[in-house]
Amino acid sequence: MRGAEPAARPERPTLVILAAGRSTRFGRAKQLEPVGPGGASLLEYAVYDAMRAGFPRFVLVVRESQRDEFEARLAPLRTAGVGLSFACQRLAHADLVPLPPSGRVRPWGTGFAVLAAAAALPRRGPFAVCNADDFYGRAAYENLTRALAAPPPEVRALTVTYPLADTLSGSGGVSRGLCEVQSDGTLRRMTEGLDLHLERHVPRPMSGAKSTGARPAVAGHAAGPESTAAASAVVGRTAAGMPLRVGADSQACLGLWGFYPEVLPLLAERFRAFIAGDPGDDEEFYLSETVSDLVEDGRMRCGLLPTEEGWMGITFPGDRAEVAASLRELTEAGVYPADLWTRSVGPASVRRRTETPHGRRSRAPSRGVATAPGRINLIGEHIDYNGLPVLPMALDRDVRFTFEVLREPAVELDGAAAHGPFAFRLDRPIEPAPQGHWSNYVRAAARGLLDHGVELKRGIGGTVAGTVPVAEGLSSSSALVVASALALLHANEMEVDALELAALLARAERFVGVRGGGMDQAASLCGAKGHALRIDFDPLRVTIVPVPEGWRWVVASSLARAEKAGAAREAYNTRRSQCTEAIERLGRASWLEVVDADEAEFASVMERARRALPPTLWRRFRHVAREGRRVTEAEAALRRADMAAFGRLMNASHASLRDDFGVSTAALDEIVDVALDAGAAGARLTGAGFGGSAIALCRASVSDGVIAALRDRFYAPRGVVGDRLPFVATPSNGATVTS
Ligand code: GLA
Repeated sequence: MRGAEPAARPERPTLVILAAGRSTRFGRAKQLEPVGPGGASLLEYAVYDAMRAGFPRFVLVVRESQRDEFEARLAPLRTAGVGLSFACQRLAHADLVPLPPSGRVRPWGTGFAVLAAAAALPRRGPFAVCNADDFYGRAAYENLTRALAAPPPEVRALTVTYPLADTLSGSGGVSRGLCEVQSDGTLRRMTEGLDLHLERHVPRPMSGAKSTGARPAVAGHAAGPESTAAASAVVGRTAAGMPLRVGADSQACLGLWGFYPEVLPLLAERFRAFIAGDPGDDEEFYLSETVSDLVEDGRMRCGLLPTEEGWMGITFPGDRAEVAASLRELTEAGVYPADLWTRSVGPASVRRRTETPHGRRSRAPSRGVATAPGRINLIGEHIDYNGLPVLPMALDRDVRFTFEVLREPAVELDGAAAHGPFAFRLDRPIEPAPQGHWSNYVRAAARGLLDHGVELKRGIGGTVAGTVPVAEGLSSSSALVVASALALLHANEMEVDALELAALLARAERFVGVRGGGMDQAASLCGAKGHALRIDFDPLRVTIVPVPEGWRWVVASSLARAEKAGAAREAYNTRRSQCTEAIERLGRASWLEVVDADEAEFASVMERARRALPPTLWRRFRHVAREGRRVTEAEAALRRADMAAFGRLMNASHASLRDDFGVSTAALDEIVDVALDAGAAGARLTGAGFGGSAIALCRASVSDGVIAALRDRFYAPRGVVGDRLPFVATPSNGATVTS
């Protein structure tokens, strides 16, 4: 079998969640058991984590009799924009078992469940499989998406493994897939270990406890069983009833897999052979066993992804309390929101804030501080308003709104040095101040909230300061809008879910006259330390993507102001209209459809566009279409920490913004050239252009050199000295408000 070349445009994987099991030991449908502090089930945590790790679609395999219950319970996920579909696992299957044996009640097993999901999977692209009643931890999904984007040669399957000892239950013996590892780190074979538990008594010679089956069941990288101390050994038996004893640090498979579609025909072939063997009514076609057989028969290789982060699962009723306590801790630590799906659309996302994070009723606040960061966009420029995903990060520089709560519905702000003080009422129509006045961003926030139905009975008075450079293309204006909205919400003891707030503030900011997209507000609200953000639109979704260690983002102002409400406004709006005209002339329903096409289809659309569009529109079209594809490639490059590839995509993005989209300037081009010349891996303008800033991606070891080159060759000749410019940006958390 040929190796899976790391595709130029890897598809994002779909997650298949197996929820058709019968929960015999647990006693009821444990897949929907509420365990999180807000009542979420483990499968909802799986969806939540996997979405953040880059899975855009989910297929839930359920039994037909339970489908309605699942659909009803999981309705909030669909409302929140989760791409969820259902596949029913029946005993009959048109191709594989047209006539199931009459006595059979038991489902065919996990291997068959995957085949039952096949029809609901996209034709191309990898997919992952997990159990609905296991909690794998976010790192597991991140490892999986990263590995699926760049698999080693000939690897067609991957499985996430955990140290066996971390996966046992205090309430009884459990079954686990015990992995034997080859010297290249891939799977040699997997043996199902049953009734596994820690060996508690004193060490003893191993004569009776070794597997004697055809497959030695000593798994993983543990030292030989004889040398294993009792406290670090796990005992149990094989499916054939042979006793087994393995190292507690063996790699255990808990049913989280990654696959390429070529595996499906192999599974089907093995299932046919299983049926032909006339299995007993209780025999099952297991996924782990089948993968192991395929590996042993040399039909494919299976990579292992050891993961330390805590797996949790519910096998016995006694496990539930422990899992619930851990989820509560994770929620208190801010890893999960209490309610996973309130990032929904509609007025339900506006809430009165009644409790503090510690559960006590809050008193009406009398003052507070709202901070909202600026952003740099790493790649994906002038495409958010075309509904295409972008990849920014929140900065470690913010706008800081220090306020006291007023009894009256009014906003009264002291000006910072450059801007004078101003006031307006919240109980009268909010009109814009003259174009370019900074109060318009505060007015935009207030009007957006009021239009959304948020009651603002109390006002705020205070001062705005901050560290985001103004009019340098780093989105200080959206940060001001976000900080103002958070201050007003806080004063009125209201909350709006972050994504909903981002979407409404993006609409509200058009009040200043720029028909902007939704990137800046979402980046400011949803920033995550150490991460870039993949932001999708319609509906708005944010997926965090880890930024590898050892790389720096150097931000360099071109010294030309890029004011949203100023000269750039018309040029920006014109670009936006040109994009709409181009896609309409081509008769296409959406840009996403163009950008997501396969290579052949994409080439043919480009050719048609080249012939059909006048030269300027063709160039605009070419920028948006290619930039959209670059974002997908850049996200994949970031996930596999291939920063050289990321840098090349940045360079291509800059060239396209300069030549096709016409938004660069001579100064921005010069910064890019100097940075690349000094050793940056990539550089491009960031934000709308027409002035503003450029960013350069550099290895940590060369960033000082790049900064020095920019100071010597760009800033000093322009009379700008000192260490304010350029600066290194660190990916940071999003906006907050505190009393
Ligand atoms: C400005 C807008 C964003 C986006 C960028 C260009 O920052 O506010 O919505 O369109 O320009 O990518």
